Amino acid sequence: MKVLVVGSGGREHALAWKLLQSPRVQEVFCIPGNGGTARLERCRNLALNVSDFEGIGRFALVNNVALIVIGPEVPLAAGITDYLQQQGLMVFGPSQAGAQVEASKAWSKALMKQANIPTAAAAVFTDAAAAIAYVKAQGAPIVVKADGLAAGKGVTVAETESDAIAAIEASFAGQFGEAGYTVVVEEYLSGQEASILAVTDGKTIRPLLPAQDHKRIGDGDTGPNTGGMGAYAPAPIVTPALMARIQQEILEPTIAALRQQEIDYRGVLYAGLMITPAGDPKVIEFNCRFGDPETQAVLPLLDTPLDALMLACVQQRLDEFPPLSWKPGVAACVVIAAKGYPEKYQKGLPLRGIAQAEATGAIVFHAGTKLKQNQLVTDGGRVLNVTAVGEDFKAAIAQAYAAVETIEFEGMYYRRDIGHRAIE
Ligand SMILES: Nc1ncnc2c1ncn2[C@@H]1O[C@H](COP(=O)(O)OP(=O)(O)O)[C@@H](O)[C@H]1O
Ligand SMILES: [Mg+2]
Repeated sequence: MKVLVVGSGGREHALAWKLLQSPRVQEVFCIPGNGGTARLERCRNLALNVSDFEGIGRFALVNNVALIVIGPEVPLAAGITDYLQQQGLMVFGPSQAGAQVEASKAWSKALMKQANIPTAAAAVFTDAAAAIAYVKAQGAPIVVKADGLAAGKGVTVAETESDAIAAIEASFAGQFGEAGYTVVVEEYLSGQEASILAVTDGKTIRPLLPAQDHKRIGDGDTGPNTGGMGAYAPAPIVTPALMARIQQEILEPTIAALRQQEIDYRGVLYAGLMITPAGDPKVIEFNCRFGDPETQAVLPLLDTPLDALMLACVQQRLDEFPPLSWKPGVAACVVIAAKGYPEKYQKGLPLRGIAQAEATGAIVFHAGTKLKQNQLVTDGGRVLNVTAVGEDFKAAIAQAYAAVETIEFEGMYYRRDIGHRAIE
């Protein structure tokens, strides 16, 4: 069968790569893909925009595409699934209504409240004065979140009341456009974060291996937030006992609450959790798609054919699907970024050493790269994601870094402490 993957990041390269390992998948199309998917055997990039739903639908119908996988949140929130389903196509990814779990933090909080899901206490505001009064009443630390999609930049974890007030004022002044004219102010939670990517057909929900990512740009979790500088799986903090609680207290009630609202959710429900010092899981946020870079650490460990799993979700027969099977070992993924990221950075820099990195046994997923006259050049802030699978974290991390060190481009930057918590 032919599969179409929508998106252009490291996550989409990993999805295409994993799908192509299935004997049933003959060909994968990526819209628009990147330099890595362009070079992948039996994979083809299409020069269409992810917001061109009609173009995507037409291509899929003409080419007999059996499954469309949507990578990023933006087209999901804009209703790509609803549109393509109306064309009779099979789509892995929630409807626009389902994508609200990510596209509106206020909506998502209301859903969690209704379903009694453990999460930070919060209040929602549509004007600055009321939000500021609430901050003054609650005190710091406190967290201020733009309601809508803000490309990972809409959240301020404020140490002081004045930082929180500044964040509220900036949001209502238009820093995030429409996305910031509603603000969620919530209780600060301490603890360790974990990412649970779960697949669902809207009735049954099954978690993939738990992962952890590194959001800050600098070693020791310092500096500004990024899209993610590395990840590893399975996250040791999520023990089987904790996973059972997450399933019971978070994943299942969330799917039940979505069903109650007549939302037919088929795709990934990603629960970003805080594991509190007492060991309780609380939801920080939901995402409506695979995590990036968590996917690049989780999928290399998956043994179950991904196409079959996704089709079981789309066709609502996940309850009959065999238990997921995983390769032994663990995975670590190191993100290589362009100099200056997450602020301003250059594009178009030639890349070298990828074949050598692959020769070490590591997997190089491309994120911001493209082929320019058959030469790979950088094309984004996060450029490459290097994943290694090993017997234990020490081995996987060492192998990932050995591969990273063979790669070269001007000003390349990466964190040197990916996975440190898994070793400690
Ligand atoms: N209530 C909270 N307490 C402590 N830290 C938080 C809280 N909410 C968010 N954070 C921190 O901010 C990051 C981003 O918040 P999140 O809600 O995941 O928004 P987004 O991913 O859309 O930017 C989280 O990964 C976490 O590190
Ligand atoms: Mg998040």
